[in-house]
Amino acid sequence: MKDRVRKVFENLAAPADALVLANSVDPLIDHSFFYLFDCASGIFEGSLAIALPDGQLHVFSSPLEAESAYQAAKQDPTVTVHVPKPSEMEGEVRGILGATQRIALNYHEVTHESYLRLTKLIGDREWIDASAALRKARVTKDAREIERLTRAAEIGSAVGREIPGMLKAGMTELELAAEMEYSMMKHGASGRSFSTIVGFGPSGAEPHYMPGERRLASGDSIVCDFGAFYRRYASDITRSFHFGRRDDELKRVHETVEVAQQAALSLARPGVTGKELHNAAAQVIDASPWKGRFTHGLGHSIGLAVHDGFGMGPLTDDVLVEGMAITIEPGIYLPGRGGVRIEDDILITRHGYEFLTTAPRGYVEVSA
Ligand code: GLY
Ligand code: MN
Repeated sequence: MKDRVRKVFENLAAPADALVLANSVDPLIDHSFFYLFDCASGIFEGSLAIALPDGQLHVFSSPLEAESAYQAAKQDPTVTVHVPKPSEMEGEVRGILGATQRIALNYHEVTHESYLRLTKLIGDREWIDASAALRKARVTKDAREIERLTRAAEIGSAVGREIPGMLKAGMTELELAAEMEYSMMKHGASGRSFSTIVGFGPSGAEPHYMPGERRLASGDSIVCDFGAFYRRYASDITRSFHFGRRDDELKRVHETVEVAQQAALSLARPGVTGKELHNAAAQVIDASPWKGRFTHGLGHSIGLAVHDGFGMGPLTDDVLVEGMAITIEPGIYLPGRGGVRIEDDILITRHGYEFLTTAPRGYVEVSA
């Protein structure tokens, strides 16, 4: 991944002689490790990646995923995989770093324990914070990343289309979440990209609700927020439905959220700020009877993590750039009653955007 290594070094606030990424134990694995090392399999606990300004990448793997690491390195001549015995580790790492003084670290994701382990291994050096450079590099996607994000989004969309057929009176939120996750993996996901949210009725009024034992009943609104990992890249999609007995207010809420999402989408193009997008959606909702019921930011960038880079809210100055992948997810929440959120993943293109997620967004009433 020579181009990616170079992109990170170019973005560093101060020049560095090397960039070191140090993983802890799962889930405290640096996402940037897999930005530089394209390896679909393996957990890589305790692994190191050392990138050099010329684009070379040295990966230190444990024997537990060595075969995957060697296979991945075969596809990329700039990658060298090391699987040292514990007693050889220090010598091999020092052999690559030599007397280099200025070493960039991902302050945002390295744990304190990994940092101490590193200083023990190579001594104290001049540390440079690489987190902003990594964030900047990762926030615009290359062709290979777009391909994976697209596939992850297609899996999410396929499941989104299937949800109405999964709904049965009396099923629990957990049962529906389990079916959705099962289906994602049947469609080729390596797993879910975050804890699936399924909220029936009043549960849907809490944006980050986690599914429980509540049973689906006629008259319930249903919020399903979920996503797939495909080759380590995430999707994030929300679809909302109505089950059984019609509720005119919740139908109008759904239609208002659709209009709010469309208002934000109509502005999505390079040069526009996150707050302009957020405010476009918020204005629609605040001009409706549900003023103030859109209680979170409009969306976020997405990549190797589901929340990857920046969030978009009323104060976000981040400017959209071609190649960014972001979510657009307005919602209206009525405590004690229910909620509606519609979320899509989009790719910012030269003059506008493209949908990555494609499942229907309109109001759907499923008979009980
Ligand atoms: N998918 C949950 C969120 O974006 O917060
Ligand atoms: Mn989201």
